[in-house]
Amino acid sequence: MKGIILAGGSGTRLYPITKVYSKQLTIIYDKPLIYYPLSVLMLGGIKDVLIISNEETIPLYQKLFGDGLSIGMQIQYAVQKAPNGIAEAFIIGEKFIGSDSVSLILGDNIFYGKLDFFYKAVNSNKKGATIFAYQVKDPQRYGIVEFDKQGNALSIEEKPQKPRSNFAVPGLYVYDNKVVEISKTLKPSKRRELEITDVNKSYLNSGELRVEKIGRGVAWLDTGTPEALLQASSFFGIIEDRQGMKVACIEEIAYLRGFINRAKFLNLIESLPESSYKEYLKRVLDE
Ligand code: G1P
Repeated sequence: MKGIILAGGSGTRLYPITKVYSKQLTIIYDKPLIYYPLSVLMLGGIKDVLIISNEETIPLYQKLFGDGLSIGMQIQYAVQKAPNGIAEAFIIGEKFIGSDSVSLILGDNIFYGKLDFFYKAVNSNKKGATIFAYQVKDPQRYGIVEFDKQGNALSIEEKPQKPRSNFAVPGLYVYDNKVVEISKTLKPSKRRELEITDVNKSYLNSGELRVEKIGRGVAWLDTGTPEALLQASSFFGIIEDRQGMKVACIEEIAYLRGFINRAKFLNLIESLPESSYKEYLKRVLDE
């Protein structure tokens, strides 16, 4: 299974934070936002990742993660020339995906809690697509799934004015290889984007879409407004301070999940500047 992080979009709703800075590089408590989605892919067991962003920002991600080897991953980069929609990621990433399956996470989506639902979807090797559904109070802002009484998905609509449910589709998707061909057949929507919702509708129509509800024990946080950024920072500040453990610490995950051995972890720690982050990783090593 390959992984794609789409760190696209123009982030206009966060102006002027996003005037110079890409949204996915804004700080959530003690680390850049993109660490959170990257850690989700890692927790799914995915080591081979393509980060897609605009030309200006790619060098910054390269500076952050390099080739990924220090955390036992292979990280590559590709440019999305304009915000042409989420589904374009599969066209841009065609070569990278090759003949494999692929998971995509949006670079501004944060998930916290028991992420087994994602691990299972990635590692069950099923045909078709698996997407998720999460209850929200503002369904007009998202892709929305309607279920029948048995819990089967009936319809999916992008940002409906009259939502048929409160179940939003988060920006985390698991597809078989057909997603590349499906994406190539799409026509741009009214907002001139290749819509991920249209990809999902195509899987739904061919009876190959699984929609799994994520329970309320998992937090799916929004990062679309200054208020949401502050709330997410407070949320992780409180949890990290209380537990003395870090969330989305990619080096720790790499070590604990066996992406790197102890010797490599030690090397990595030694390469870091003196900081509380480094002290934390030393503690992880000793425990
Ligand atoms: C996109 C998708 C939408 C999904 C959302 C999740 O919306 O189009 O279906 O629910 O991400 O964050 P956008 O960010 O383009 O408004």
